[in-house]
Amino acid sequence: MPNKPIIISICSEKGGVGKTTTTINLAGGLAKRGKEVLMVDLDQQQNASHALGYVKDGRPTSAELIYNTVAGIPIDYAEAIRTCGNGVDYIPSSPMLTNITGTIANDTENDSNFVLRRLLCNEVFAGYDYILLDCRTILDLLISNALNASNYVIIPVDLGIYAYNGLDKMLDKVASINNTTNRDLRVLGVLLNKIQRTTVNTSLAESIRSEYDELTFRTALPYCPAQTEAAVLNQTSCVFDERSSLGKAFMEFTDEVLSITEK
Ligand SMILES: Nc1ncnc2c1ncn2[C@@H]1O[C@H](COP(=O)(O)OP(=O)(O)OP(=O)(O)O)[C@@H](O)[C@H]1O
Ligand SMILES: [Mg+2]
Repeated sequence: MPNKPIIISICSEKGGVGKTTTTINLAGGLAKRGKEVLMVDLDQQQNASHALGYVKDGRPTSAELIYNTVAGIPIDYAEAIRTCGNGVDYIPSSPMLTNITGTIANDTENDSNFVLRRLLCNEVFAGYDYILLDCRTILDLLISNALNASNYVIIPVDLGIYAYNGLDKMLDKVASINNTTNRDLRVLGVLLNKIQRTTVNTSLAESIRSEYDELTFRTALPYCPAQTEAAVLNQTSCVFDERSSLGKAFMEFTDEVLSITEK
């Protein structure tokens, strides 16, 4: 069995590709398969936090955890963990994350690349099977911290004409982290999202699969705007109904993730 917890960053420099959608639905899927799951929101937009039902409550967010860890001020990590209805625990983010890199860079006593790794080593996180990190789009020091704390990275790609740009930049970033601060980081997979049955879309999907064959997940996610809207409107969370085509695809994806990470 792998060491617990398995930490996965969901990351891409390209915006709107499905990082947050993937994070919360994978978290929900893993919980459905009986895993203890924690989602940490590392994006000041707070989309993942709100999707899981977060309402500002005065308790610590990921930003305070990072600030206090850097400053060496004790903080109750357990107080930052919220629970939501689908069996997933989460730590929300806050707008304070916007300027966090300056703070992290000031961590001169310890290595500023490893603030998040140090934080996640706290014993309150030891009981989780999986910790998923929903990353923001800028590949800055915060995201380097996420990648340095992670065993794996998932890179969602939406099939627009600029798909390759974002993917290559992200793979370069992983390679540079591999060469410097985290040799153990592995690309868990490239996840093709928003698949449509158009000629352009199909040929883009095929060329990404042939170029990044061993890196691409077997499961691809269909483009389903109606289901996405329904999920947001009908629930406080946008975790998809398992019977919908996106819900089914996310469960298939979850099982693929389990089959790789539990080898
Ligand atoms: N397979 C899909 N079918 C339809 N809509 C989708 C699909 N995947 C994601 N979306 C929609 O695309 C938009 C962007 O998705 P999401 O917020 O998950 O991307 P992101 O990469 O986290 O964005 P950001 O860069 O802003 O953090 C959202 O409105 C989401 O509901
Ligand atoms: Mg997002």
